[in-house]
Amino acid sequence: MSRLTLETLQAMKTQGEKIAVLTAYDASFAAMLDENGVDAFIVGDSLGMVCQGHDSTLPVTMDDMVYHSANVVRGSQRSYVIVDLPYQSYTTPEQTLTNAQRLIDEGGAQMVKLEGGQKQLANIAVLVEQGIPVCGHLGLEPQSVKELGGYKVQGRDEDSASRILEDAKSLQQAGIQILVLECIPAALGKLISDTLTIPVIGIGAGVDCDGQVLVTYDMLGISRGHKAKFVKNFAQSQNNLDDAIRAYVDAVKQGQYPGPEHSYQ
Ligand code: KIV
Repeated sequence: MSRLTLETLQAMKTQGEKIAVLTAYDASFAAMLDENGVDAFIVGDSLGMVCQGHDSTLPVTMDDMVYHSANVVRGSQRSYVIVDLPYQSYTTPEQTLTNAQRLIDEGGAQMVKLEGGQKQLANIAVLVEQGIPVCGHLGLEPQSVKELGGYKVQGRDEDSASRILEDAKSLQQAGIQILVLECIPAALGKLISDTLTIPVIGIGAGVDCDGQVLVTYDMLGISRGHKAKFVKNFAQSQNNLDDAIRAYVDAVKQGQYPGPEHSYQ
């Protein structure tokens, strides 16, 4: 079986088919997600919190990302694989290119993800020039949690909403091919998804994004501690993990998740 391609994900947006995405960090989970119809994985630096027990994503290293990505790729066959560039791994275009190349060559990534708007344009340019597919990440940017003063909903006032929208347009113009939007009002998620031609994947960004992503451990009710409003435990009403993953994929595809109770105003 060959992996889904960017063209497939782009066609899903064009045809109005929702894209079901989950995080993956290891081979066994990747195999299970893959077999149950997940379209794409994000090998997220959230692994720093859910696998390593840190209280943020900041301690995650390039070696960690390469290690987890390679495990996920070995365990799966079909899902498209997006891998996070971790904190401080893309501070200059040269460093960005070196590290992105590592995620692709050693980690088997199909696309790399980085957080931020205007300040990332030079880093994105060098990746696009070298033919490396890039995913952007706007809204709540967990690698900037210290500057943001915590894990807070973004884009609630007019100024910050229009900054996020303008950033989204600039990133698309710079050549990103997927955008993740985290923790923003549902109306802003819809506006950005309708404005951009590339697939927009939401996490706490409302039902009108082109697809949804959740941290798999949150979706299965494994995570402990604070539970964000947008999280739904799909294992609660299912008999086993395969059924829970299928229930998530079906709910995303049918536009039933996230509901208003999982969305911000
Ligand atoms: O690190 C992560 O898990 C993410 C989420 C948005 C999926 O980036």
